[in-house]
Amino acid sequence: MLKLYYFFKNNIDHSLLFLFILGIIVSFFELIGMSLLLPIFQPDYNGKFAEYIKYTLSLFNINYNIINLSIFIFIIFLSKFIISVFQEYKYHKISNIFLSNIRKKIVDIITHADYLKVNKYSFSEINNLLTKETEKAYELFFYIMQISVVCTLMIGYLSMAFFLNVKYTLVMIIFGIFIMLVYKKLNRKVKYYSYEILNKSERINKYLTELIVYLKYLKVTNCINTYNKYMKESSDEYSHIKYKQAFLGGLTKRSSEPIGILMILLMVSYNNIYEGKSNIEIAFVALFLYKVFTTFTNFQYMYQKILAVHASTFKIIDFENTLKNSQNKNNENKIYFNELLKTITLNNLSFKIENKKIIDNISYKFERSKIYGIVGNTGAGKTTLINLISGLYIAEDNCMKYNNTNVNQIDIRKLSEKIAYVSQENFVFEDTLLNNIISWNKEYEKDVEQYIKISALSKLVDDLGLESNIGSFGTTLSGGQKQRICLARELIKQPDVLILDEATSALDANTEKEIMGNIISLKDDKITFVIAHRLSTLFKMDEIIFLKNGKIEASGNFFELYHTNCEFKKMCNNQNINLDNE
Ligand SMILES: Nc1ncnc2c1ncn2[C@@H]1O[C@H](COP(=O)(O)OP(=O)(O)OP(=O)(O)O)[C@@H](O)[C@H]1O
Ligand SMILES: [Mg+2]
Repeated sequence: MLKLYYFFKNNIDHSLLFLFILGIIVSFFELIGMSLLLPIFQPDYNGKFAEYIKYTLSLFNINYNIINLSIFIFIIFLSKFIISVFQEYKYHKISNIFLSNIRKKIVDIITHADYLKVNKYSFSEINNLLTKETEKAYELFFYIMQISVVCTLMIGYLSMAFFLNVKYTLVMIIFGIFIMLVYKKLNRKVKYYSYEILNKSERINKYLTELIVYLKYLKVTNCINTYNKYMKESSDEYSHIKYKQAFLGGLTKRSSEPIGILMILLMVSYNNIYEGKSNIEIAFVALFLYKVFTTFTNFQYMYQKILAVHASTFKIIDFENTLKNSQNKNNENKIYFNELLKTITLNNLSFKIENKKIIDNISYKFERSKIYGIVGNTGAGKTTLINLISGLYIAEDNCMKYNNTNVNQIDIRKLSEKIAYVSQENFVFEDTLLNNIISWNKEYEKDVEQYIKISALSKLVDDLGLESNIGSFGTTLSGGQKQRICLARELIKQPDVLILDEATSALDANTEKEIMGNIISLKDDKITFVIAHRLSTLFKMDEIIFLKNGKIEASGNFFELYHTNCEFKKMCNNQNINLDNE
């Protein structure tokens, strides 16, 4: 409960209390108005309530007579209406700000938190969090507001009924406790369904996303039928649980009327037969108790709704808490690295992912103006090493330095401005070719032509035009075209560190040679890393690091490695590279 309170408080601040108070005021107006109705129906009424009514009117300097009372009651209900409208306006305003705040916060967290920690959440989980779950947190906010009003009304009506008739009210309370036990069972079920719905909804999201993103593969391999089946099954299961949950909610809501009416009829009959008290007073006791009962079932209904959506809110809270910590750890008191980058030094660098050692005690010094090749079998740790060097993964203290500064002292967000990274996956955005090259940065527009040439993109640009849209995930492009666009986008930044992870793997040998020549000619003002399985790509590297099981197996230029390391030589020979006579 406390977790929820802080969650709402942090996203809405003082307005939460204001809304809460408005809700209480509205219910007080209703209670006062209803309690004053009694003498309207029985003008000579002088029972228990008479003194209270006279006292209330005297507070406003109003004489006790039917006309004054009627006007006063009308004013009370009119005021209630005006405050309710204001409350409605305020609620919708605040709750939409709340919704937008949560979404912005989640996006901020994803942006700044430790990449590996964010990566633990699946795509569909995050997608769900940003869309459906945030909407449910918003619903939760609504029901919590409502339940505070309902509680005030319930307590108010109960007090008024008590005031008029203690005996009947006590019977009603016992009856209410019995009903509560029945509802408790229903509530447990609703809570269980809430978590089930969350899981199923994430599953549907996963199938939907993969169906769209992998459509090509699924269609070609006929896996699409299996996917289609899974998707439909999940969808059926989801609607099945959802309808069960909604039915329980409806049952709670509708049950109030027959039970309430039965209770009144029993009470009035009992009174007529055995006690014969003033009918109007009993009618009001019955009315108040009926109101207690309907507000009570309303309370149960709201409570069930809260249970139905609470799993989503807790998921958001957990997501925030888990990732926020990693965010603080990474960015507190960090410095803005603005020196000319001359060296990157690794000093006994090791790195584990989920307790598995991926990088094992690597020491090496990388220098400006040099181009480094990184080779090794698949899974050797090449991409992981590069992810550490780029700051995407967080290295242990004192294991990595940019010039003389420990990388963990540098604000990663600023550091990333100096780094260009063409990763193994090609990221192209659903936008124009131009925006894909300049990453929406107008400053780069003047250099576009030059980098189009360097990345061998001239023909593509001539064919399509810079303003053409390249479709979602670059569906209109070939693999090699996508790679060259990614390359141009990184080169145009003129970075201090350029990382190319299999960046030319999809290119034909001639185009690759042309581009590698261009990259080598640009190496002077940066440290360049090239990872490649196609070893001919690495002929002209200044130094090559041969990685094996996360360790440096050997290093040197291509020629040296070939002649000193059997495994490297074997890899070369397997690719028809033979330097034995050189
Ligand atoms: N996010 C992750 N979670 C768990 N294990 C990971 C993660 N990323 C990488 N690994 C593991 O780390 C090891 C090294 O992976 P890495 O991607 O660095 O290899 P690589 O040398 O780049 O291979 P490839 O040539 O296939 O790209 C692999 O065994 C991989 O399974
Ligand atoms: Mg890799």
